[in-house]
Amino acid sequence: MKLCMIGTGYVGLVSGACFADLGNEVVCVDKDLNKIKSLKNGISPIYEPGLEELVKKNYKNGRLKFSTNLKKSVAISNIIFICVGTPTKKNSNSADLSHVYKVTKEIRNAINKFKIIVTKSTVPVATGDEIEKILLKKKSKKKFSVVSNPEFLREGEAIRDFVYPDRIVIGTNHARTNRILKNLYSPLISKGAKYVNTTRRASELIKYASNSFLATKITFINEIANLCEKINVNVEDISIGMGLDKRIGGRFLRAGPAYGGSCFPKDTKAIVNTADKFKINLSLIKSVIKSNQKRSLLLLNKINEILKGRIKNKNICFLGVTFKANTDDMRDSSSLLMIPSLAKKGAKINYYDPTGEKKIFKKNKNVTFSKNIKSAVRNADLVIIHTDWNDFKSVNFKSLIKKKNFIIYDLRNIYSNLKMKKDKIKYFGIGR
Ligand SMILES: NC(=O)c1ccc[n+]([C@@H]2O[C@H](COP(=O)([O-])OP(=O)(O)OC[C@H]3O[C@@H](n4cnc5c(N)ncnc54)[C@H](O)[C@@H]3O)[C@@H](O)[C@H]2O)c1
Repeated sequence: MKLCMIGTGYVGLVSGACFADLGNEVVCVDKDLNKIKSLKNGISPIYEPGLEELVKKNYKNGRLKFSTNLKKSVAISNIIFICVGTPTKKNSNSADLSHVYKVTKEIRNAINKFKIIVTKSTVPVATGDEIEKILLKKKSKKKFSVVSNPEFLREGEAIRDFVYPDRIVIGTNHARTNRILKNLYSPLISKGAKYVNTTRRASELIKYASNSFLATKITFINEIANLCEKINVNVEDISIGMGLDKRIGGRFLRAGPAYGGSCFPKDTKAIVNTADKFKINLSLIKSVIKSNQKRSLLLLNKINEILKGRIKNKNICFLGVTFKANTDDMRDSSSLLMIPSLAKKGAKINYYDPTGEKKIFKKNKNVTFSKNIKSAVRNADLVIIHTDWNDFKSVNFKSLIKKKNFIIYDLRNIYSNLKMKKDKIKYFGIGR
């Protein structure tokens, strides 16, 4: 099939490359010329394991193309995927749909034959109705079908998640469109993915309800971890004991810093905003948002406690700053709050991240980037393990850190209390 992905970010590029690998002809469109240029040179603008290789392979064999020309790309394709960002609107909790609607208007001017227009971006309920309205403004006969097909991939595991999804959700009442999309996804369905055909509005809501539920699970275990710290219980025992119950399941039950990333924070806010419009109080999700917002402050208080109130002039090293491992995505990472706050209190922050230096910290005084773990930790009084990259899982801190009484605060519970005790390292984890 001939596919056009509009928005070549985490979702558009990963799904475009994977669809091409499944034998489709795909053109990935973006308004960002530099992004398209670098992709044509075989360089992925984002860090995602295995992505660059997949892009190179399919670009070389001609099934994957890149373009800034939306009109031409839509004209030659049968199925158009809208994959642009839907961040939180400034000074509001609602999703900013300006990119989605802008792209829709551009698609409208490019429709030359029947097109299936699929919203892969996460959009509030009834956005599909609005897209349809915009497209209908053109005086021609209806030559399109608007479908919701939310994406559930996780950054860091995006390719695996795309190729082996638990489910594929297609929101359309149009039988022919449903048949075409089921056919497109048939290689994944034959590998075990469940195919769910529902209404467009239900499909839009499935995405928000899923993300809110996962955010709730994380927040739940984070709060239980707070209790564990007071009663001398290890939260990991709780996660295992709870997670073995099939009704609960063990995933997303790992205590850690506040949840972040490009999805959970904005999607929890947006679903609450949608419900408010319909005068429905999603009080549980509201509490989750509040609890998560407080979590970084709670961890900062703990750091203050660990350092006995003496943060000024302390050398604090952050291992990892992205919102989770195996991605370069900094959106809503808890480090964005923690690092500037500690630097403001006079700490000297040195950080290392396998995906390199972050522009955002360049403006902070007392914050420097180190090119490797060794130089990042060398002078540390306190090492904060912020993300659980494999690179951080077997560091010989004793041999790398000059100071005798250094402390480790492991926000991901990578190391065992027992091992740290044996090595005579002052060590704190989460919920232990
Ligand atoms: N990142 C994830 O893990 C993930 C997972 C599932 C769903 N989603 C959802 O998918 C959507 C996209 O997320 P993302 O993380 O890929 O976003 P992103 O910011 O990485 O990429 C969006 C891309 O769209 C491009 N763009 C914006 N306006 C455009 C226009 N008018 N014409 C052409 N290109 C344009 C931008 O230049 C950018 O490259 C969001 O709604 C998000 O909630 C994201």
